[in-house]
Amino acid sequence: MSDARPVVGIVYGSPSDQEVIAAAEKVLDKFGVPFESKMMSAHRMPGTVTEWATTARDRGIKVIIASAGLAAHLGGVVAAHTTLPVLGVPVSGGIANGLDALLSMVQMPAGVPVGTLAVDRHGAKNAAVLAVSILSLSDEGLAKKLDEFKTEMAGGGRL
Ligand code: RP5
Repeated sequence: MSDARPVVGIVYGSPSDQEVIAAAEKVLDKFGVPFESKMMSAHRMPGTVTEWATTARDRGIKVIIASAGLAAHLGGVVAAHTTLPVLGVPVSGGIANGLDALLSMVQMPAGVPVGTLAVDRHGAKNAAVLAVSILSLSDEGLAKKLDEFKTEMAGGGRL
């Protein structure tokens, strides 16, 4: 992680989600995007989540990645407290092996979106690529890196 001011805020519901989150962190590092990563549970630490989400924009965060399993309310609670884009990454492990978390994240009421990706590491990697893509709208350096990445993949490169 770089020392620059974080522009992506990653939140995840439990230390048990860390392996999934590591996949997103690795992608952000590859693109040189500064991020902060915080463990906070929507259910066990509701005050912390509210405070973090409410202040995220003022602290310079531009895109949020929220990852959780089981009832997976973290992305939705964060989205309830911010107008920043929130990308959700469901984590497997519940009774429906991640489909439960995915449905919980994706079924937000109109007006409070959580842009939900695939379950586990694949979703985490794509959440990070999508975060870079959103940031690239106002950052030509990142747009160029994304172009280079497309070329890299066409040549067999993988995240
Ligand atoms: C969710 O419950 C977390 O995001 C995690 O995926 C799942 C299990 O949490 P632990 O009981 O392992 O802390 O809130």
